Amino acid sequence: MGMQSVAVACGALALCLALSTATNPGFVVRITQAGLDYAQEQGIAILEKELAQLKLPDFSGKSGELHYSLSRLHIPTFRLPHSRITPVPNVGLQVSISNASVELNGDCLVKFLFIRGPGSFDLKVENISIKFILRLGSDTTGRPTISTSDCSARASKVGLRFSGKLAWLYNTFKKTATSLLHNHLETTVCDNVAKSVQNKLQKQVQTMPVTVRIDNKTGINYSLVAPPRATAQSLDADLKGEFYSLAHRSSVPFSPLPLAFPSDHERMVYFGASSYFFNTAGIAYHEAGALVFEITEAMIPKEARFSLDTSIFSAFIPQLEEKYPNMPMKFRLSAPTAPFLTIGPGGISFQPIVDIQAYAILPNSSLAPLFLLSLTGNVSAVINVRSGRIVGSLDVGRIRLSLKDSAVGTFQVQFLQSIMNILTSNVLLPHLNARLDEGFPLPLLDRIQLSNILVRFHQNFLLLGADVRFQPRG
Ligand SMILES: *[C@@H]1O[C@H](CO)[C@@H](O)[C@H](O)[C@H]1NC(C)=O
Ligand SMILES: *[C@@H]1O[C@H](CO)[C@@H](O)[C@H](O)[C@H]1NC(C)=O
Ligand SMILES: *[C@@H]1O[C@H](CO)[C@@H](O)[C@H](O)[C@H]1NC(C)=O
Ligand SMILES: *[C@@H]1O[C@H](CO)[C@@H](O)[C@H](O)[C@H]1NC(C)=O
Ligand SMILES: *[C@@H]1O[C@H](CO)[C@@H](O)[C@H](O)[C@H]1NC(C)=O
Ligand SMILES: *[C@@H]1O[C@H](CO)[C@@H](O)[C@H](O)[C@H]1NC(C)=O
Repeated sequence: MGMQSVAVACGALALCLALSTATNPGFVVRITQAGLDYAQEQGIAILEKELAQLKLPDFSGKSGELHYSLSRLHIPTFRLPHSRITPVPNVGLQVSISNASVELNGDCLVKFLFIRGPGSFDLKVENISIKFILRLGSDTTGRPTISTSDCSARASKVGLRFSGKLAWLYNTFKKTATSLLHNHLETTVCDNVAKSVQNKLQKQVQTMPVTVRIDNKTGINYSLVAPPRATAQSLDADLKGEFYSLAHRSSVPFSPLPLAFPSDHERMVYFGASSYFFNTAGIAYHEAGALVFEITEAMIPKEARFSLDTSIFSAFIPQLEEKYPNMPMKFRLSAPTAPFLTIGPGGISFQPIVDIQAYAILPNSSLAPLFLLSLTGNVSAVINVRSGRIVGSLDVGRIRLSLKDSAVGTFQVQFLQSIMNILTSNVLLPHLNARLDEGFPLPLLDRIQLSNILVRFHQNFLLLGADVRFQPRG
């Protein structure tokens, strides 16, 4: 290979790598056939209700010498008994409705030469089949877009009946009217489908939160990084899935890893929350200055039966007793770097490092730095989903301490082990777990509730499965 072709190959490889890493999502939403079936049921129920309330405009026309006008049009029934939504790989979702039927009645008025007179009509169209494709895309803000294509509508039976004194006259143009209806069916139905999708469905999918503010420090970016993708079994949406600090915007120093989604399909919806998603949370909270926590006397639970003052350390840090006798203390916990976790089939593995600066609180309230400890330990996490939010709780195994700095002479940190165990398990963890229990919102459309939750760990991501319930308004 010549120099030039090596350069070209490297360039192409670099480009491919850049392209492939740029498109990895931090968060994936998968809707399975079971989810599409539920969406279809809900959609059809809403559609039937809406069609039953459809107000049709008065209508007039001319056929040869015959002038006619229709008024007080009313739809007593509109049935959509069989319908199905299926994904069509790389195209979108196919919606097919079969054996639908509609009845329509109203008043009519005809004028033919010198004869004119009122009457009424009943129209029954049966065995209507409608098919169309929902095409999904994403707009520049990362929101989903939805439109229709390839619409077709046919009916095998159109029945038209007139009544009134001039029924004989009406019946003379019944054939014309029937074929007119037949011919207009497709455009009428398809235009209405396109309009409803535009006005209703598009509006509903636009309620998908692209960025969600979580608290006054961070938000999550859930914008689509690519148009939703139909596969043979599901509809997948690749989302950015990135936490950001509201105050400090900076780019994340690592990229999302590829997520190998399993072929599970029992639940209606699956969420893949990558390690990237959780690690950007760590960065965002670290940048927002939120990973700081102070422990004071008042926060020590009574059961711990010790008070946070210099006398408890006097036995093993003699200098402390000499310099700051019987003074209250305070610990300031902070993360020197953003915490970083990895996710594998065995669960979440996480060894955060916490700096603990101890202070004596002097009589004039100023703080005298005593010593700086570094604490680490294996943290295990339990994750769940509640009220549409990812919630969690942490537990820590044996903590490991080291002394980083001291203004009161060196000492054996093992002596602090039991006090630090108490502070970790009785003060720090409850505080963290209270926050994690509030959770972080999943990207859900309005009025969607989740049930039958499944939580599983895979390489680089957490798989959450759920069934969905749509909560009607009101
Ligand atoms: C189609 O609908 C009609 C009523 O409109 C019903 O009588 C018929 O059984 C249905 N056919 C099928 C195959 O479901
Ligand atoms: C209903 O329509 C379908 C397809 O449009 C057709 O195959 C079927 O024969 C029709 N059924 C009746 C009873 O007309
Ligand atoms: C941020 O929220 C916390 C609690 O949620 C509250 O105590 C604090 O005052 C808020 N800060 C600002 C600047 O709004
Ligand atoms: C969210 O991510 C998208 C895609 O990377 C980006 O265009 C958008 O600016 C981000 N929004 C926020 C609020 O960070
Ligand atoms: C508080 O007292 C200490 C020692 O008693 C002294 O060094 C320090 O300057 C005082 N601080 C203030 C703010 O008065
Ligand atoms: C954390 O877990 C790893 C592997 O599971 C082990 O090697 C290490 O000693 C543990 N650390 C602590 C502080 O328990």
